[in-house]
Amino acid sequence: MKNNKEQRYTINRQHRTLINKHKPCLIWFTGLSGSGKSTIANLLEKELHKQQIHTYTLDGDNLRRGLNKDLLFTKEDRVENLRRTTEVAKLFIDAGLVVIAAFISPYHKIREDIKAIVGSDYYIEVFVNTPLEVCEQRDIKGLYKRARAGEIKNFTGISSPFEVPVDPTIEIETVKESPEEAVAKILEVLKGRL
Ligand code: ADX
Repeated sequence: MKNNKEQRYTINRQHRTLINKHKPCLIWFTGLSGSGKSTIANLLEKELHKQQIHTYTLDGDNLRRGLNKDLLFTKEDRVENLRRTTEVAKLFIDAGLVVIAAFISPYHKIREDIKAIVGSDYYIEVFVNTPLEVCEQRDIKGLYKRARAGEIKNFTGISSPFEVPVDPTIEIETVKESPEEAVAKILEVLKGRL
């Protein structure tokens, strides 16, 4: 930050909001691997797109193939993964988009940091609450089996912690609610905010 002064540009978030005809925000999905974050995020983006809302989705698995491909799953690397992602989300919010993010984001402190970086007015936290046993039974990517066998280190829920969100904006219990019901719940909250 030393010797660095912010350059002010004339066109800002407000100007872009006027063109887009909706406000930007960040919808942050947190939950275990295989809990259903990406499935619900995808369905939500489809619905928003239908309503002519400008969106972009950031997904942990995808960002770890590019921007964050140098990072692993130690606490330090997860924090850096989420810090970079949050800065990207903040730029996209500035660009006027409704940003959807799907990351395990297992630590309370990092979720607090995300909220502080983008601003609490722009932050909607969705906790996709699926019990570990259910995620492990589904094991869509076969990762839980490998983690139990000791082939994957620091696996969330097995050998790395997941701190349950204390005050999420929305909580989805995927064993009781369908992805369609989850999306309806999120859209209801968004109504007042876009
Ligand atoms: S986070 O903890 O840093 O937020 P992120 O959402 O980016 O995680 O990546 C999680 C995805 O990486 C999982 O859905 C899974 O496909 C894959 N993965 C690979 N190794 C691990 C691991 N050790 N723990 C959790 N997820 C892992």
